[in-house]
Amino acid sequence: MKAQKIIIDTDPGIDDAMAIHQAFADSRLEVVGLTTIFGNVYVEQATRNALWLAEQAAYECSVAGGALTPLVQAMNTPACFVHGEEGFGSLTDIQPSQKPDPRSAHIYLSETIRENSGEIILCPVGPLTNIAKLLDYDPEIVNHVKKLVIMGGAVYVPGNVTSFAEANFWNDPHAADKVLGADWHIDLIGLDVTATIQFPSDVFSQIAKASPRIGGFIYDICEFYIAFYEKIVGKRVCLMHDPAALLAICDRDIFTFQNEPLSVIVEGEEVGNSIVSENMLRRAVSVAVGVDVDAAKKRFMAILAQADTAFDKRVNS
Ligand code: RIB
Ligand code: CA
Repeated sequence: MKAQKIIIDTDPGIDDAMAIHQAFADSRLEVVGLTTIFGNVYVEQATRNALWLAEQAAYECSVAGGALTPLVQAMNTPACFVHGEEGFGSLTDIQPSQKPDPRSAHIYLSETIRENSGEIILCPVGPLTNIAKLLDYDPEIVNHVKKLVIMGGAVYVPGNVTSFAEANFWNDPHAADKVLGADWHIDLIGLDVTATIQFPSDVFSQIAKASPRIGGFIYDICEFYIAFYEKIVGKRVCLMHDPAALLAICDRDIFTFQNEPLSVIVEGEEVGNSIVSENMLRRAVSVAVGVDVDAAKKRFMAILAQADTAFDKRVNS
């Protein structure tokens, strides 16, 4: 079966790094490109990290740097206490050898999606600023994207930055509201499901055993993330936000969805809150409201267990 073309818009970030290596390792996916955004780190660092992940996996794909700041509000300080100073836990001085695509993310997205009209699934797993800028720059793009699978929001559950807001929507609520209100198909993989996908640390030691190169890196960086969650939820686990969005592309059957028009509150105490919209003119979003966590774990581990084999195939081809 032909691999599904995707572009991941990302703020790497530990769970972003896992999701990107998961996509590189999954033969059902073809990663056409990575576009970067601020969020877990500043966008310059996100671009270095994305280039570095592609080099680490010997995966040839474009990397295009995105917006420096949110559409309207001031930028929030990156969550270094969650993902580490440079986004990969205690790893520092990340120096990729490749350079990014000269185009800014929204222009790269418009041109690349149009060159592959109807074929690309856009998978944002960070703040949605680049995607909102894409809509402003090229409104007709909604007719050329196959669909979006977005990690973000918290519709029927509390947020993770405030009790209302999930981090990606909190970091640019105006962008999130614009993207959710556009006329395209969205699968929204939010905290409603990702907060329940908690993998214990032995998952990562098993992956590292099976794939010492890629799995070993993931094991190393997720130690910092597990230490953070141990303080938050009192267990040595990783919340698998971004990997869940990638699973929802090829393994959509392990999720259950509910269709609701959504909007995002852009100011005040509830800023970043994703709510069911009264505006019935808004196209409904497919909101993931349930997930088979065991199936998610099995699929994630099976994909990452052969990450080094996939690497060897690319290097020896
Ligand atoms: O709220 C979780 C999301 O915010 C994830 O995408 C994580 O990487 C951060 O970007
Ligand atoms: Ca992310």
